[in-house]
Amino acid sequence: MELRDKVVVVTGGASGIGTGLCRRFSEEGVRGLVIADLNADAAADLAAELGGNSVALDVRDEAAIAAMVADTEAEFGQIDLFCSNAGILNLDGDEYWATSSDNDVWQRNWEIHVMAHIYAARACLPGMIKRGEGYFLHTVSAAGLLTQPYTAAYATTKHAAIGFAESLAITHGDDGVKVSCLCPQAVDTAMLGGTDGGAAGLDGVLSPAQVADAVVQGLREEAFLILPHEQVAQYHLNKAQNYDRWIGGMRKLRRSMRPPTLP
Ligand SMILES: NC(=O)c1ccc[n+]([C@@H]2O[C@H](COP(=O)([O-])OP(=O)(O)OC[C@H]3O[C@@H](n4cnc5c(N)ncnc54)[C@H](O)[C@@H]3O)[C@@H](O)[C@H]2O)c1
Repeated sequence: MELRDKVVVVTGGASGIGTGLCRRFSEEGVRGLVIADLNADAAADLAAELGGNSVALDVRDEAAIAAMVADTEAEFGQIDLFCSNAGILNLDGDEYWATSSDNDVWQRNWEIHVMAHIYAARACLPGMIKRGEGYFLHTVSAAGLLTQPYTAAYATTKHAAIGFAESLAITHGDDGVKVSCLCPQAVDTAMLGGTDGGAAGLDGVLSPAQVADAVVQGLREEAFLILPHEQVAQYHLNKAQNYDRWIGGMRKLRRSMRPPTLP
């Protein structure tokens, strides 16, 4: 897909990777840009700067996503690319067991990383199928392919996001619907909180602009996986070739990266 003259929606567009995407899409000459975020003020500021629309939105709210899609289609006639990008990161709770995060944390991760993608697809598919084309970009994470120590709720729901994207691509490819999953390791955003990214940062921390470059290239190629850190492709292959060896390697990685609060 080429972005020129396209109509694009970006959730979580008011910060980090989402803002990098919005800026780059604007440079590419999209004709409609909708920036949706919980942070209404930041979304409005960016929309004013880039000449887009802003929407105050919690992606956990299906009715709000449906209304945004309907409004955008009414204004621009269609949505060419819907980017489900909003996300949150929680470290496992105090004991750092895989089960330590409480149920509220698991539920929030599930709703934001998975259900929000389903809500967006449910709202956009009728228009896309009718036109015989449309594109979903899901910001997932390398953690959705490879897990990540100390973040069980994040890594598990990011795996589920990949699962839904696969179903979407397999089921609706023949309808002309394309899907890409963006799976970076560490990116220099508020989510990283000024840290080196821990395990995710071992191959370097990219800027949102570098990630946006990879996205534009990946959309051009219509690749299912967009991997701004190219090492992820090899790690993914290593996992598929020998799961037990890969689990052993991840245990070693986890041991080497104990959070400061652990003895
Ligand atoms: N930063 C990284 O290292 C990294 C690595 C891999 C994947 N990711 C993924 O990239 C995506 C963007 O994260 P980021 O790093 O730019 O973080 P960020 O914190 O800078 O931006 C996240 C944005 O999502 C918005 N948001 C959060 N919950 C929302 C909700 N319920 N409804 C609407 N908006 C909501 C926030 O307000 C914020 O503007 C996330 O899905 C994240 O999991 C980030």
